[in-house]
Amino acid sequence: MSQRLKLEIKAPDAVEGQDLVVLVSDTLALPEAARRPAGEGAQALLARAAAAERFKGKAFSGLTLPAPEGAPYERLIAIGVGAQDERAGLDFVKLGGAIAGRLGAGRSAEIVLALPEGKIDAQHGADLALGLRLRAYAFDRYKTKSKDKDEAEPRAVTLRTADPAALKKALKAADAVAAGVIQARDLVNEPPNVLYPEEFAERAGKLEKLGVEVEILDEKALKKIGMRALLGVGQGSRRESRVVVMRWNGAGKGEKPVAFVGKGVTFDTGGISLKPGAGMEDMKGDMAGAACVVGLMQALAARKAKVDAVGVIGLVENMPDGNAQRPGDIVTSLSGQTIEIINTDAEGRLVLADVLWYTQERFKPRFMIDLATLTGAILVALAQEHAGLFSNDDELAARLAAAGTATGETVWRLPLGKAYDKMIDSKFADMKNAAGRHGGSITAAQFLQRHVGETPWAHLDIAGTGMAAKDSEINRSWGPGWGVRLLDRLVADHYEG
Ligand code: BES
Ligand code: MN
Ligand code: ZN
Repeated sequence: MSQRLKLEIKAPDAVEGQDLVVLVSDTLALPEAARRPAGEGAQALLARAAAAERFKGKAFSGLTLPAPEGAPYERLIAIGVGAQDERAGLDFVKLGGAIAGRLGAGRSAEIVLALPEGKIDAQHGADLALGLRLRAYAFDRYKTKSKDKDEAEPRAVTLRTADPAALKKALKAADAVAAGVIQARDLVNEPPNVLYPEEFAERAGKLEKLGVEVEILDEKALKKIGMRALLGVGQGSRRESRVVVMRWNGAGKGEKPVAFVGKGVTFDTGGISLKPGAGMEDMKGDMAGAACVVGLMQALAARKAKVDAVGVIGLVENMPDGNAQRPGDIVTSLSGQTIEIINTDAEGRLVLADVLWYTQERFKPRFMIDLATLTGAILVALAQEHAGLFSNDDELAARLAAAGTATGETVWRLPLGKAYDKMIDSKFADMKNAAGRHGGSITAAQFLQRHVGETPWAHLDIAGTGMAAKDSEINRSWGPGWGVRLLDRLVADHYEG
């Protein structure tokens, strides 16, 4: 909820903050630009403290010391950037995260934006600022105790740079992306009694303020369109289902848009094929795909990306009431194909089947990428290290892989093929929604592929990466906002202008 960070950009003159942050390599030499502000004695003090603490300037490590006698600040924070020959690969977003991790609640800090060997360019400075913002985020909306509130006190950070104008400019895009990631995190973290389909749709509707066109399709509209697979999932819930269509026309040339589709199961009990109780609370995160699409559309609009993009999300709650769908039911999806329900807990593919078909029919997009917390099996295969990638298009897959490496939101491609496709043939209908345990993530992807036609398409299974995140330098939140940076980068690198 709160970003807990107030950021200012200033020229390198006086030191006004309580903490002074400097970047040092394995030589521990203070950067030229940091020497005057750090003050006399700082270099010697750092050398002595580093020896005592075995601080060697390793990338992302840090050392906090009291300021030297007579200095105008209170603490010196040295952050390692590693040896000079490793500098080319230095991740400035992660570096910003490591810095934010050492800042105190309610304190002010100055960061001297300079490396031991010289200046940091505006883009890297903006990356660092993005890392600061992402690390400083915490979802504390429902904390009422003062102990937690103290921690939420903002950190006032000043970035000191020789070229404030260039950094301010680069920061506009970085701040748009940060806000998009934070939007996605908020949505994933929200409890399922608060964030049900209608409420989710309303929050997506707020993107109109940024110039995104938002259409909200209610159940009446969805029935009329014929999204019976999606509606079948929602029919056991007291909450109504919704589909939201978001359009950002930043290229404005009337060419084919790029399209992003998200699974938005605001809570997944499993339905009549009820999940076990232990850990079920995590299933509030079963809308992380939809959250990513909203965060991405927000980022694209806020940075005025020169691209025509559509985002379509399917929002349902999977509950087991007296009207719920049963194993054995057969539904007709929007594509006209029939589906035998084997397991009501394999609901994400039913939602996506209709939304994918709808998106390609209506928008004829250049490509379609869906994100979904689709299978537990993807955690068995890849743990939380990569999202599973499935695609019918090698170029799109390669571009996603490259964007993944560049952002650290990495993907790993898994196969599709005839033999796997056969595994979802049904005795009674055109296909069934669940096969055996073997290749569970692949058969889920095959099911989706039966609903994308000839459109270049990629599916990202984010059950491992999109929720219940491990702590990292840039994230301490349960919902990491995974995928916003990946897809923003994909668009920026290949589909703008
Ligand atoms: N939402 C779950 C997948 C999931 C599992 C997401 C763990 C995040 C963490 C999905 O709807 C589901 O229940 N999938 C089933 C499919 C099976 C019934 C074929 C699964 O993975 O067990
Ligand atoms: Mn499920
Ligand atoms: Zn699910």
